[in-house]
Amino acid sequence: MIKYEELQRTLLKSPKVWLITGVAGFIGSNLLEELLKLDQIVVGLDNFSTGHLRNLNEVERLVSPVQWKRFSFIEGDIRSYRTCLDVMKGVDYVLHQAALGSVPRSIADPIATNETNISGFLNVLQAAKEVDVCSFTYAASSSTYGDHPALPKLEDNIGAPLSPYAVTKYVNELYASVFAETYGFKSIGLRYFNVFGKRQDPNGAYAAVIPKWTSSMIKNEKIYINGDGETSRDFCFIDNVVQMNILSALASSAEKNKVYNVALGDRTTLNQLFELIKANIETQGLSVELSPTYREFRSGDVRHSQASIERAESLLGYKPQFKINEGLSEAMPWYVEFFNKNC
Ligand SMILES: NC(=O)c1ccc[n+]([C@@H]2O[C@H](COP(=O)([O-])OP(=O)(O)OC[C@H]3O[C@@H](n4cnc5c(N)ncnc54)[C@H](O)[C@@H]3O)[C@@H](O)[C@H]2O)c1
Repeated sequence: MIKYEELQRTLLKSPKVWLITGVAGFIGSNLLEELLKLDQIVVGLDNFSTGHLRNLNEVERLVSPVQWKRFSFIEGDIRSYRTCLDVMKGVDYVLHQAALGSVPRSIADPIATNETNISGFLNVLQAAKEVDVCSFTYAASSSTYGDHPALPKLEDNIGAPLSPYAVTKYVNELYASVFAETYGFKSIGLRYFNVFGKRQDPNGAYAAVIPKWTSSMIKNEKIYINGDGETSRDFCFIDNVVQMNILSALASSAEKNKVYNVALGDRTTLNQLFELIKANIETQGLSVELSPTYREFRSGDVRHSQASIERAESLLGYKPQFKINEGLSEAMPWYVEFFNKNC
């Protein structure tokens, strides 16, 4: 049995109280779904800046009425320390996901990104320390590798940040480390690499590449590739990310005060990704007649990204259960249904 299955059994036998910040977002709502299915008690915080009520409503439909009753939602903002302290009362484990994502958004509005991702982060961290929760896991980012050229990415070798967003996520790591040294409050940072899956928002200027292209292919709209298409990423299916959050929350003290890559440990180019999404949409009975249009490289983007997942495997017992194509085939029916309902 893999470590994650062992922990799922333990949690089912002995439910805990969890706080998920950013619960109405893509990753937060998937964490909520898994924790409720494991009969946990969950408090969720969100200000709906990029998340949606529809994500929470969908989770309600996927769990039993008894499980849903174990969830309490607070609409509020992590930029308020008071709010962070209020929601923290009685919480065992924190999964901090709330942030303004997207490199281009941070380039367009660095102040807004800074306020939520740095000041908001510090509020959540300080409140968690004050209440002395059992564990604190936060969403870090692969953008922290910045301009470091080595592949695969090893947690200890980072370069200079290439965007305001990357600065904010690196500052999170610095604060987490200082809180461990100064107050003995140890946390775990999860450097996510291009996560994808159901409930990832396909709309808006800052949509991620997989939902954006899926949406465009279904609607037969033009698809742009920034650069020559040989840019590559380590795309990671959401269920692997959920697994890593739960492994981290329950990790022992020796595994804390560290950051971990959360990825597949593989690399897919944008040209390959285009073909994979197309093939997966076609398995849903839709035909795709598009070819990509190539345009300029985008500022702040790194050329290649691939993680080493050695640290997560050896210290936390991480075992990613979905490769990219398996993840796409899981996610595609959700997108087709989403567009049938919303278009
Ligand atoms: N999706 C990825 O590929 C990826 C990659 C690296 C890091 N991350 C990080 O993972 C986390 C979750 O990302 P996601 O993809 O689910 O994004 P998302 O936008 O779907 O979710 C973020 C949630 O946080 C909420 N939020 C934002 N500002 C808030 C505030 N001030 N107060 C309260 N709630 C607020 C939003 O409303 C949203 O529901 C973020 O910290 C993001 O930076 C994501």
